[in-house]
Amino acid sequence: MRFHIITLFPETFDCYLSHSILGRAVANKKIELNFLNPRDFCDDPHRRIDDKPYGGGPGMVMKALPIIRAWEKASVIPFREKLPFTKKRRMKTILFSPGGRKFTNEDAKHFAHHFDDIILINGRYEGIDHRVVEATGAELISIGNYVLTGGELASMVVIDSVARQIEGVLGTYESLEEERVSSHEVYTRPEQFHFKGREYAVPKILVSGHHKKIEEWRAFSL
Ligand code: ADE
Repeated sequence: MRFHIITLFPETFDCYLSHSILGRAVANKKIELNFLNPRDFCDDPHRRIDDKPYGGGPGMVMKALPIIRAWEKASVIPFREKLPFTKKRRMKTILFSPGGRKFTNEDAKHFAHHFDDIILINGRYEGIDHRVVEATGAELISIGNYVLTGGELASMVVIDSVARQIEGVLGTYESLEEERVSSHEVYTRPEQFHFKGREYAVPKILVSGHHKKIEEWRAFSL
């Protein structure tokens, strides 16, 4: 899976995407990250990327053309590649917006299994000139009912949740771990401890050694 990330701030991705499971997925070529900065696609000698909104109003709006050109570059890369005759790369474009459709884990699974290239358009300022949506056919996606200062965090959320659905990104242990963590309460040593005069103990059933009962308890605690 290739993620093409259109952003004014590519360096904001470094820390999160170069470590742990995602860092390993990049190293193992399970995922590929391709950054495109709209500033590199400006005509303006000052590389100005934003302007006042038509119709008035506060703030600045990101210009359409530098983003559309960055998108065009990202979208031709897949087709330049030598691929088996029968295989056409499947591509999706997402533009992050707090007003977009809410992203879910079902989307993460769908994207992982139905696309080869995902182009992520990240806005800043008061938004992006809407003609970008018309020219690219992007889907507007939101990651939750709150407003962020830009799409970069949303991009990282989508990359993380899609990548972990790709075969080989999570090790066997982590896949099992994921089922365990997402399905019920978990405990580790010590079996009990005291904090501010209160004892905190592991549920007795988990230290009983009775596997069938433990499974029942786990199913019940969902
Ligand atoms: N940009 C600003 N807020 C956002 C949100 N909640 N989801 C996606 N993109 C955003």
